[in-house]
This record gives sequence, structure tokens and C-alpha cells, in this order.
Amino acid sequence: MKRILSGIQSSGTPHLGNYLGAMKNHIAMQDTHECFIFIADLHALTTVRDPEKLRKMTREIAIDYLALGLDPEKVTFFRQSDVPEHSELAWILSTVTPFGLLERAHAYKDAVAKGMKEPTVGLFTYPVLMAADILLYKPDIVPVGKDQKQHIEITRDLAEKFNSTYQETFPMPEPHIPEDVGYVIGTDGEHKMSKSYGNVIEFFADEKTLKKQVMSITTDSTPLEEPKDPDTCAVYKIYSYFATEEEKKSLADKYRAGGFGYGDAKKVLLEKIMEHFGPFRQKRIELAENLEYIDTVLQSGAEKARTVALKTMAEVRNHTGLNFQ
Ligand code: ADP
Ligand code: TRP
Repeated sequence: MKRILSGIQSSGTPHLGNYLGAMKNHIAMQDTHECFIFIADLHALTTVRDPEKLRKMTREIAIDYLALGLDPEKVTFFRQSDVPEHSELAWILSTVTPFGLLERAHAYKDAVAKGMKEPTVGLFTYPVLMAADILLYKPDIVPVGKDQKQHIEITRDLAEKFNSTYQETFPMPEPHIPEDVGYVIGTDGEHKMSKSYGNVIEFFADEKTLKKQVMSITTDSTPLEEPKDPDTCAVYKIYSYFATEEEKKSLADKYRAGGFGYGDAKKVLLEKIMEHFGPFRQKRIELAENLEYIDTVLQSGAEKARTVALKTMAEVRNHTGLNFQ
């Protein structure tokens, strides 16, 4: 069985982009792969400075994953900061990381370009911690969204640097980027769905908020009675991620026939989202009442993860001279 590893930052309520581009794929792989999935709270520290908020968001994302069907019996599911070897390996890797490699990293460059006044060392070395997250577990595959591609390339560079400086230690991880849903469109019909554009549909939000988000999808001004083009409409695009071929055809026919307004289409979409996420929403309510269970799941996930991490660190210590043998 091939091993996969992926992480998600604890930085807010997940939206359809996160679900289709990341979470759904991670969960689907639990039956066919040996999976390590973790909540990147050390990475979240680069932006979240409120301890209560960080604790809450870390638990929330754990609840989201479990509600969506992640099975902790099959997946090693844990919190990054519970496995201190992530930080330890990050330091060791930083000693073979060329400064210029990090200067070229998009996430850092973008933050500075957007006017970040005092970028921290943590933001600058974000990719090194991410490389440590990955290399500790020697995964075959790292499933991520398109925006993380460069981080995986940096990880491969650092693995190669370490191996050539010392000796063969880390196998090369392969990125796995879903083609079809690599880019889920936002409610503005223009940009990718993202928290930073404020164009999201949060499938675990209360019904009123969810309805408001669906109803806010931007459409053109074709009058109700006239035919419409489904292929240029964000409502139809989002619907098509969840509908069967038959359902898609039926909605497309209604668009083309005329006499069917965008308001009607949005109602169909909302119903579809409720139908798809209904059971998950119910499960989420139950899980949110049992935080002890959530904490136990993460604890036992961390114990399992740690046995693997410690094994890799023993090799790293040997290969670098950080032990007396
Ligand atoms: P956001 O852009 O809302 O801040 P994150 O950067 O936290 O989202 O993304 C978390 C995960 O979800 C990443 O793996 C990312 O690739 C994926 N993702 C986010 N937005 C989308 C989208 N619109 N389409 C596909 N995948 C997405
Ligand atoms: N940087 C990733 C994101 O923002 C999260 C992440 C941290 C990650 N460490 C990882 C993803 C290791 C894959 C593997 O989405």
C-alpha cells in the first residue's frame, strides 16, 4: 500500500474549494492508501496570534474532517505540534537550505508584495517546516491543491540537498494535484473560491448563512423569460460538482428553454448542497458535543505518528552526527 501524507492549516471554516480540492480526496484515499493527515497548527502560528482562536480552530477542523467521514481507525490523524520532531527536523533541514531558494518562494514573496510590514522568520522558513512535515514520514505521494506545488518542489530540493550532503535518507515524494477540481470557482463567478476573496460557500455554516452565500452568486442580467447559457454560469458550474450527468442535463435544458430564472437555479443548487452535506452536517453536530472524543482521537493519532517520526529522526541523528552511536 502506498503511503500518502497531507496537512491542512487550521485557519477557518472550510469552503467548497477546500472540500473538493483537498479534504474529499484525502478521505477517499483512506481505503486505498496508508494515510497520514495532520492539522498544521505550527504553520497557522505564522498568522493566528490569539491562543483561544488557534485552539478552537484546530478542534473545528478536526471535527470537520471526522464529520466528512475521515476514519481515525484507518488514518493516522494528528495535530502537528503534538509531534515535536516536525520542528526538530525543520531546524536540521534549515542548515542545508540555501537562502536564495526561500527568497524565491511565492507565499513569502506575495505576502511582502501585498505590503506585509515586518515579515517574520517563521513566514520565510514556512516551506522548510513543510518539507520536514513531509520527509519525516517518507510518503510516496503528497496530495495537495495547485497552490502548493512549489512547496513540494522545495521539499524535493531539500531532500536531495540532505541526501547529497550526508547520505541517502529521504526518498523523493511525488505531488498529486487533482486536475478536474484543482480550481473551484467562487460566488463572484470570477476568482477561485478563497477566504481571501470573500467569495466562499461554507457547507458547515448555519442554514441561513449557507442560503445567503448561495443566493449571493453573481449572475448576468438575462431576463427570466429568456434562454440562458449554463456553461458560463457559476451556479451551474458549482452544481455540476455534485450532480449526476442526468441531473446536469436536466438543469442545462431548463436554462436553455427560458422561463427559468437564476433565482430558481440557485434554489436547485442550495437543495443539492443540503442533500450532499445533510448527513455530514448532522454528524458534525453530534461530534461537536463530544470534544473529549476529538481530543482522544488526535492524541492517539499523534502517538502513532510519533513512532514513525522517531524512527526517521534516529536515522537523521546518525547520518548527521547528532548522537554518540
Ligand atoms: P483559502 O484559499 O480559502 O485560504 P487554503 O489556502 O487554506 O484556502 O487551502 C486549503 C486547501 O484547499 C489547499 O490544499 C488548497 O489547494 C485547497 N483549495 C483552496 N481553495 C480551493 C479552490 N477554490 N479550488 C480547489 N482547491 C482549493
Ligand atoms: N501549506 C499547506 C496549505 O496551506 C498546509 C501544509 C503544511 C501541508 N504542511 C503540509 C500540506 C505538508 C501538505 C504536506 O494548504
